[in-house]
Amino acid sequence: MNQKITINTLKEMKEEGIKIACLTSYDACFAKLQDKAGVDLLLVGDSLGMVLQGDDNTLKVTISDMIYHSRLVSGVTQRAIIVSDMPFMSYSTPAQALGNAARLVSEGGAHVVKIEGGDELSQTVRLITQHGIPVCGHLGLTPQSIHQIGGFGVQAVSNKAAKELEKDALSLQEAGASCLVLECVPSSTAASVTKLLDIPVIGIGAGIYCDGQVLVLHDMLGLTPKQHKFSKNFLSGNDSIFDAIEEYVNQVKNNSFPTPSNSYE
Ligand code: KIV
Repeated sequence: MNQKITINTLKEMKEEGIKIACLTSYDACFAKLQDKAGVDLLLVGDSLGMVLQGDDNTLKVTISDMIYHSRLVSGVTQRAIIVSDMPFMSYSTPAQALGNAARLVSEGGAHVVKIEGGDELSQTVRLITQHGIPVCGHLGLTPQSIHQIGGFGVQAVSNKAAKELEKDALSLQEAGASCLVLECVPSSTAASVTKLLDIPVIGIGAGIYCDGQVLVLHDMLGLTPKQHKFSKNFLSGNDSIFDAIEEYVNQVKNNSFPTPSNSYE
């Protein structure tokens, strides 16, 4: 598929059962390779606070950081859709969220903005989408709430929490979200949410049944010291970074990544 990816393409891919291959991206050098290797969605994630800036969490990342890295990625990308994270406290009111989302699009070149949270954000999602900016939700493990959650563990494990997650996902969809990231939840829960929603669900540590997969670039290249259960080093066994990224895309598309050993039950 060589056509430029839009939110409509992502929806068609879900409907046709074509898996969506996504990776985080933070600069022009890698973005060019990722785009050429067939990654469908480049996420300028606030994980850059950890992988580029060396912090323990994402909380120090600013809107200026996000605009800068989004601009580096969008400047060279021809095919992939670009989703940029709204950082911690940049969407604490609907009006503030709209202003910052607009900056990510107009100054950063993002096509979609991503925010972490559920039903409590429905007014914010409605306002941003009403102004023509697509929104990606993010549920499950939401790293911007790390101090409230208490650690980077699996979420929505109990039946009650899984039901809450479904309610939040539906609420985001009803408010106008175009896609949803589900992070670190049991595969069965992710499968129910994916079936329930019309919009594409992109998983990370959420099992094989999501409409697509995302990994942090530095994790899948083996550059981060700790290999997470849900990730895999694709550089191992490949001769180049380009080959590693291409293999990731192929494995997502043909359902060979993630395996049960990369997933939570
Ligand atoms: O910031 C990020 O990279 C993310 C992914 C882990 C989904 O939100």
